[in-house]
Amino acid sequence: MYISTSKITQYSITKHILEKKFNISTLEDLTAHLATLVHSRQQIKIIWSNPLLKQVVRKHEVYTNEPKAKRPYAHHYIENNQSFTVQLDGEQVIQLMTTLTEEYKQTVVKTTIAEYQVLRNKKGKSKLLTKHVSHQDLIKDQSKQYLIPPTAPFLKGLGLATTNHLIKAEAQKKYRQINKFVEIIGSTLRPEHRQKSLSIYDFGCGKGYLTFGLYHHLSQASKQEISVVGIDLKPAVIDHCNQLATDLNFTQLTFEQGDITNTALTSCDMLIALHACDIATDIALYKGIQSKASYIFSSPCCHKEVRTLMKKSDSPILRHGILKERQAEMLTDVLRTLMLEQHGYKADIFEFISSEHTAKNLMIRAVYTGHKKDNSKEIIELKQQYGVEGQQYLEGLLAG
Ligand SMILES: C[S@@+](CC[C@H](N)C(=O)[O-])C[C@H]1O[C@@H](n2cnc3c(N)ncnc32)[C@H](O)[C@@H]1O
Repeated sequence: MYISTSKITQYSITKHILEKKFNISTLEDLTAHLATLVHSRQQIKIIWSNPLLKQVVRKHEVYTNEPKAKRPYAHHYIENNQSFTVQLDGEQVIQLMTTLTEEYKQTVVKTTIAEYQVLRNKKGKSKLLTKHVSHQDLIKDQSKQYLIPPTAPFLKGLGLATTNHLIKAEAQKKYRQINKFVEIIGSTLRPEHRQKSLSIYDFGCGKGYLTFGLYHHLSQASKQEISVVGIDLKPAVIDHCNQLATDLNFTQLTFEQGDITNTALTSCDMLIALHACDIATDIALYKGIQSKASYIFSSPCCHKEVRTLMKKSDSPILRHGILKERQAEMLTDVLRTLMLEQHGYKADIFEFISSEHTAKNLMIRAVYTGHKKDNSKEIIELKQQYGVEGQQYLEGLLAG
């Protein structure tokens, strides 16, 4: 069922009055009323649960953003253990209302003065129940859903938050990225490493967003003993980060200016690299492997190198520039994980955050187990299949 929202808006003017009398008696009435509310940016919350048919998403939530947000609403759901949040305008809320309400046994719509429950059976029949309740504040409390709260002082120091501890509009995506990165690290750490003192390196740390975020979370929230070193080529950002670490009394957080190629790691429990450019990711992985780091977390970016090694191929998929580029990216990352496995790591690749927050949203996660897989045949075959001549950068580093 799709209801035109312009019709709904007209229809809803009278329905708004009806809600006060609790006379909204059909799903169509409710959808119409909802359209009025969302078009005037009123606070609402909708929860769909209990899918009618087998679905990968068990529950969807639409909630109201804080007034300063670019879009008034957000849609949150968990799919295959990954959490997604999509920003919405009113029109998109109504579209979700019409589609998802048909797919779930229960839909709950909360407005500031009422709560509606739509119960749907497998035959497609629905029943609407109305409760007179008061929901004073349906705005999602943003501070509750992030491991690094907007009040963390480093966020202001790095220019991601305002003086009132609100995450700046232009910094929202980076803020989400570092939160997800830190969340994944936290959920990957084995119990024996949660108590232990950890030595962590951030290769290509840039302005230190993730470096500070991880330090803040592990040392302040998890009270874990850690030392963190961020390394980058740019002297100005390194000076700024060191000054901020001193100001915040982050005694075990330091930044060094230099080329990661020349960084010698004496002891490293965890190596992280967020968007280290092109072969800088290979250097990071190599240094992690060399130092037998227990954990390597790397989100690669700008995969240029392998593409230059791909010679002319008859494969139709490699005839188109953009597809060749994407194939080269996939090939690079899969070769990297195969090599990590050869060196005793359990490695996987996944989307660490929705592509809405960054197009560079893949993460290579490697946990040292000591179990070495012989992937040499697979590596040779893959390279042949894509016409790769010569050694991929990490392959060259590992070959010595
Ligand atoms: C895209 S930025 C990412 C910065 C940071 N990790 C983040 O995500 O906010 C890549 C950073 O890697 C640094 N970088 C690239 N090659 C490097 C190298 N060989 N040694 C040290 N830093 C390097 C660059 O200077 C740049 O700051």
